[in-house]
Amino acid sequence: CGIIGVTGNGPVVPRLIDSLKRLEYRGYDSAGVAAVVDGAVERRRAQGKIRNLEAVLAEAPLKATVGIGHTRWATHGAPTTANAHPHKAGRVTLVHNGIIENFAELKAELAAEGHVFESQTDTEVIAHLLDAELNTGRSPLEAFKITLDRLTGAYALAVLIDGEDDLILGARRGSPLVVGWGEDEMYLGSDALAVGPFTQKISYLEEGDYVAVTRTGAQMFDVAGKPVERAVVQVSASSAMVEKGEYRHFMEKEIHEQPDSVQHTLSEYLDLVTGKAKTNAIDFAAVERIQIVACGTAFYAGQIGRYAFERLAGLPCDVEIASEFRYRSPAVSPKTLAVAVSQSGETADTLASLTWCKAQGLKTAAVVNVHSSSMAREAEVLWPTHAGPEIGVASTKAFTAQVAALLALAVAAGVARGRIDAAQEAELVKALFESPRLIAEALRMDASIRSVVQDLAKADDILFLGRGAMFPLAMEGALKLKEISYIHAEGYAAGELKHGPIALIDEETPTIALAPLDDVFEKTASNLQEVAARGGPVIMIAPENAPDPHGAGIRRIHAPDCHPLIAPLVYAVPMQLLAYYTAVQKGTDVDQPRNLAKSVTVE
Ligand code: G6P
Repeated sequence: CGIIGVTGNGPVVPRLIDSLKRLEYRGYDSAGVAAVVDGAVERRRAQGKIRNLEAVLAEAPLKATVGIGHTRWATHGAPTTANAHPHKAGRVTLVHNGIIENFAELKAELAAEGHVFESQTDTEVIAHLLDAELNTGRSPLEAFKITLDRLTGAYALAVLIDGEDDLILGARRGSPLVVGWGEDEMYLGSDALAVGPFTQKISYLEEGDYVAVTRTGAQMFDVAGKPVERAVVQVSASSAMVEKGEYRHFMEKEIHEQPDSVQHTLSEYLDLVTGKAKTNAIDFAAVERIQIVACGTAFYAGQIGRYAFERLAGLPCDVEIASEFRYRSPAVSPKTLAVAVSQSGETADTLASLTWCKAQGLKTAAVVNVHSSSMAREAEVLWPTHAGPEIGVASTKAFTAQVAALLALAVAAGVARGRIDAAQEAELVKALFESPRLIAEALRMDASIRSVVQDLAKADDILFLGRGAMFPLAMEGALKLKEISYIHAEGYAAGELKHGPIALIDEETPTIALAPLDDVFEKTASNLQEVAARGGPVIMIAPENAPDPHGAGIRRIHAPDCHPLIAPLVYAVPMQLLAYYTAVQKGTDVDQPRNLAKSVTVE
């Protein structure tokens, strides 16, 4: 979704609309604006494109100089006008990106206190909560801080309050927000593009920051409530769409976009409010087998998907590299669903495999990020990922979006096949919607990751180990490192190490282990002891509460504790950061590594 806020001097609504039009690419299910008219906040909303909102405003104009706007990409609740932002409760009117995981508990509490809700959204809950705090006589900033502290999730907010005609409150948690600096006016936006029509002078809020924006400036606070200042930087207007913003490389930017891209992708398949998988065009009860075909990073996403389809849905699932599949005359049974997984939707081998499957009379689906691509058109069913444009050649956010889509679809398959009951479905949906917040938390591992890259950058070979879904993720971690740092790396199933690769272990060969607290944690830990006992340096990525595997030379990096289902999404982040910082340390061309292409349309 897109957010804009303006504390200005002239008519604000046309400016909000101008900005929203530029943000329409971020979602266009519905749109809305709110503005302070003679001290009271009024709003206008419409379903569909911005032009529908313009029509509403033509009928009922808003004359104001301070306002906020939103273009919505429906996360939960239908894309109706009632569910469109801004949401209002008492004195509070606000717009929101992201999700509030604990909205159901908060809503129940507020309803018991007599609050009446007019939408199905999690957003409205924030408005009620903040209004209740204001009613106790607190100042807007105090009330806002208390409200933020009660929310769990990954989100960004912009807020207006009745009676405050020179104030917009904003907060960033997992979802980006920028402050724009003008002449006697100020702006708040979901990215540089949002404030692009008005200013090129921008401060990027940091994770956990909140802000009070007035016409003359911005008071910023960190997560602890301490006043802070964030640097003002100049961005170029023309490059705003594909700019790197506060990041050094596109890859770094794309790694940090994952709370948003994963959330958008999950929302395509799951509904947070109902705790259910959405219906989709495939009848999983009628499918007997899944055949996934893909190349590169998408192949590893497919392998992670396989663990979920088999475990949650009891659905046999094969995953194959498309360049092998297409030339080996595979034997496929008639009730097989063929699934192509691809960022670009154009990879020649994957496309040819998909076409071949279709010609065999199989049902076909494509998990693709470019929704107008050849595969999107070729497959009977399009299963979109919503990672947005990925510029870095080494895939990051497209990968986690693929994983998110496949995990969500596996839940849907489990429900359709009677393997998952309503209570389990609700638990799994809840767990998946925790991933944007936990990904945001994993992004804060960058300091601990940076502390090991000096050693990694010196290595000639690095091993990545994991079990279960962490095995394909280990291979993806090794691929990322190879692609951008040019260090040779291999991903292995932790239990397979003793059958060969352990011969490679010496003091110069680091091993990186992915060890979430799942049902095979102990097994992975004992494999690490085997490595450490042979003098190999080990870095174990595991939650802080995981037991210590005894062994000299086992170094730990703490990852967020999470539900095992979403571990591939959360642990993908340290894999990406390791590759990224090692490459930066080595000084390679991170976004355009040698010999590689973003999309390979030759065999
Ligand atoms: C190229 C890219 C990889 C990507 C693979 C498959 O090799 O460099 O990052 O994983 O193609 O691309 P696709 O667009 O099909 O996901």
